[in-house]
Amino acid sequence: MPERDRPGAARERADAKELTEWFAKVEAYYVRKGDAADAVELAQKSRGLTAQILQSLSAKDFDAATNSATALSRTCKTCHNFYKKS
Ligand code: HEC
Repeated sequence: MPERDRPGAARERADAKELTEWFAKVEAYYVRKGDAADAVELAQKSRGLTAQILQSLSAKDFDAATNSATALSRTCKTCHNFYKKS
């Protein structure tokens, strides 16, 4: 871990990396499924935001990382409102 990393940043980076991979799968799933343009768009947006979080973390810009994470949690919620049954 780089010495000026905030505690926990390495873990967050690992989480964000897993999320980008996960959203790539979500996106592919909805592209295959069809008739879910909103979900595809939300998955793309989420993947973009997780990539931004990773970038901000490597730049040690924790404020920007927090802003992207807040925006990301909104896309989670929007998609769940539309597509999650329970
Ligand atoms: C593209 C749409 C979409 C996005 C974006 C999305 N989700 Fe989901 N999520 C779903 C759907 C649909 C389900 C329900 C899947 C099922 O039941 O088969 C789900 C289920 C879940 C579950 C399972 C637990 C539960 O309550 O049923 C968790 C946890 C979860 N999502 C977390 C997240 C988080 C965290 C994010 C953002 C980082 C996110 N999701 C973004 C569509 C999305």
